[in-house]
Amino acid sequence: MSRIVIAIDGFSSTGKSTIAKQLAKHLNYIYVDTGAMYRAVTYFAMENELIGEGFFHSEKLIERLDEIHITFKFNEALGFAEVYLNNKNIEKPIRTLEVSKYVSPIATISEVRQKLVEQQQLMGKDKGIVMDGRDIGTVVFPDAELKIFMTASAKTRAQRRYKELLERGHNLSYDEVLENVTTRDRIDSTREDSPLVKADDAIEIDNSDLTIEEQIKTLLELAESKA
Ligand code: DC
Repeated sequence: MSRIVIAIDGFSSTGKSTIAKQLAKHLNYIYVDTGAMYRAVTYFAMENELIGEGFFHSEKLIERLDEIHITFKFNEALGFAEVYLNNKNIEKPIRTLEVSKYVSPIATISEVRQKLVEQQQLMGKDKGIVMDGRDIGTVVFPDAELKIFMTASAKTRAQRRYKELLERGHNLSYDEVLENVTTRDRIDSTREDSPLVKADDAIEIDNSDLTIEEQIKTLLELAESKA
């Protein structure tokens, strides 16, 4: 079977990464979480006081983009590749609600997108890759053999994210999480550069009432039919 590119796009907290990770494992493909790359740039901006409560020095961030080196290293124990910023493992600190709050404004900057899209295209040049994000099927790999667009109601997504954050020991309310999910949806879908839209040839899956196993089964069948 030939190796293909699988692009999984969709709103935040639709469970894209869980599905993408497992799909890549089944197919023996590389999995790339592009949201982690935007989160890594956000983490750099926060650490360097370029973004925070009430301020965002976007021009300064653009000037300093060359200082940002993002890599992925496979963690055998976890079964997926963790993200590194300038050789520091930042897989955990990029998952906080604070980073989630600032990541959408950071992702509106064209210079940031250009840098990350270039790196993503290089990672997928030999195919055999599952990549999830917002613009994978539209901008990064418009010729991907299989494109999926994941959706679920905002409440379902906020519930999932809330549960996940509580399990990781974060102290926050469900309303804060719902507010973050809906604000990110709005910014991600209305930004000028590469907004979140379903590619014309993407297959839409609403997973509000689907188990992970059901989704994997459907995606494996689709991948096989395309390969
Ligand atoms: O998938 P995630 O929730 O970790 O993504 C974090 C943010 O990064 C998301 O709100 C928008 C941005 N993003 C993007 O603009 N393009 C991508 N390909 C992936 C993420």
